[in-house]
Amino acid sequence: MILVTGATGTIGRPLIDLLAEEGAKVRAVTRDPGTSGLPEAVETVAGDPSRPDTIASYLEGVTAVFLHPRAAGEAAGALLALARERGVQRVVALSAINIDDDPAEQPSRFQGDRNKEAEDAAVASGLEWVSLRPASLAVNTLRTWAPQIRVGDVVRGPYASFAEPLIHEGDVAEVGARALLDDGLSGRRLRLTGPRSPSHAELVAVIGDVIGRPLRYEEIPPEAFAQGLIQRGLPKPFVAALMARYARGTGPAEAVTDEVERILGRPARSYDRWVADHAAAFQV
Ligand SMILES: NC(=O)c1ccc[n+]([C@@H]2O[C@H](COP(=O)([O-])OP(=O)(O)OC[C@H]3O[C@@H](n4cnc5c(N)ncnc54)[C@H](OP(=O)(O)O)[C@@H]3O)[C@@H](O)[C@H]2O)c1
Repeated sequence: MILVTGATGTIGRPLIDLLAEEGAKVRAVTRDPGTSGLPEAVETVAGDPSRPDTIASYLEGVTAVFLHPRAAGEAAGALLALARERGVQRVVALSAINIDDDPAEQPSRFQGDRNKEAEDAAVASGLEWVSLRPASLAVNTLRTWAPQIRVGDVVRGPYASFAEPLIHEGDVAEVGARALLDDGLSGRRLRLTGPRSPSHAELVAVIGDVIGRPLRYEEIPPEAFAQGLIQRGLPKPFVAALMARYARGTGPAEAVTDEVERILGRPARSYDRWVADHAAAFQV
């Protein structure tokens, strides 16, 4: 039995589908099974991984845990101690490629994500462990750009030349499934990236090509962009961390790796492919 935390999330849903397709027994944890929309084939249980006592009884009979840093919050260590007590053998922790960066330049920390703590807890757990360190998810561009693209042909944002190797969430989930089901990845910190590192301007052009409309990225001053985010209610420390990451300099934010291809036996999915998979969300 595999227990999945963060089961209703961007990574958790495709991960659960893959595990179920392979015939694995899955127990999915969500705070609200009633609205989770998880597949019937999966045992869905009510619990909050940030309060491990709420999932203690569900650890019985579990061999492997998928540890989600947003869901576990500060409780990753306590949750894994409980897991070990109950006989769990393996943990696959979701983390992030930037966890060794200056914390002030890790925007996700200001949203409460505890990516470094999740990896550290996995390493210290005494269980077999694997850490997934994905680059930025391509789905971030949906959140930041789709509202502009649905109403026009110009995307306004800072740093047109900022580049990073965005990864398809499906690839992170697929590597996660391999780490949970197969032997051989134990003790690895997997830096997972897409196959290339396109700039903001290139990414917007790709969206245009795939949805069949000419789109253009228009660079605006970083200060104006940051003010806009703050006016939309994003916390100031989060905005400061994001801008520090963008401003760090030329060259891709992270190097492209071939981990996805080496583990899955096929190249990581491209951004073009990701847009094709989500094209409807960019259209009115
Ligand atoms: N976005 C990126 O570019 C990127 C890149 C690398 C790493 N990461 C990291 O990956 C993680 C995000 O993964 P994701 O996109 O799969 O997450 P997600 O979709 O936002 O959330 C996963 C699930 O966690 C549960 N959850 C959320 N907040 C919670 C809270 N405060 N307390 C308890 N449970 C909570 C929710 O499940 P229920 O509501 O069903 O309980 C949610 O469906 C973060 O740690 C992030 O920093 C993100």
